Amino acid sequence: MRERIKELISEESIERRIRELAAQISCDYKGRPLHLICILKGGAVFLCELAKRIQNEGLTMDFMSVSSYGSGTESSGIVRIVKDLDEPLMGREVLIVEDIIDTGSTLNHLRKLLLERGPRSLEICTLLDKPSRRLQDVPVRYSCFKIPDRFVVGYGLDYDQRYRNLPYIGVVEFQDSENS
Ligand code: IMP
Ligand code: MG
Repeated sequence: MRERIKELISEESIERRIRELAAQISCDYKGRPLHLICILKGGAVFLCELAKRIQNEGLTMDFMSVSSYGSGTESSGIVRIVKDLDEPLMGREVLIVEDIIDTGSTLNHLRKLLLERGPRSLEICTLLDKPSRRLQDVPVRYSCFKIPDRFVVGYGLDYDQRYRNLPYIGVVEFQDSENS
């Protein structure tokens, strides 16, 4: 089996949408220092592109890596922290930056966990959202694109750790190597 990547959302569309979102975030957090939390590794590319377009004096960022227990592609919602944040969240205006919300299990659990650390506010910003797959309700404040139930890669998202560097979002299509 070989795979082929078919473009779903172009680099131009993503950049345009990120600019819009960054302007909205700049406005919403005016006068309040924003603390961005990047969920590694998928959220890394989105965080960089978003952060440099946000105007917010005192903006800070931190990184965390989680893995959810579960079999195969379905996440159980039990989140294990692989790399924790370096800084406390107490009293801060926190915005979680995520690549994609699928079933919602990971973020639902992570959100509860981070709320216990006493942030002043805690919101979620995601590049992609697959609402048709949702099993757990998650309050998403900012979302760039809603997409159908397809497995996508690029802009930080991977298939077997590959394709994170693609500048666009693409759908993975599998094909028999004999016919390609
Ligand atoms: P959830 O707990 O089901 O919402 O899991 C979300 C996580 O699953 C994301 O942060 C991604 O790491 C991964 N994921 C879900 N859908 C895709 C996809 O289409 N492509 C790549 N990774 C995905
Ligand atoms: Mg992720």
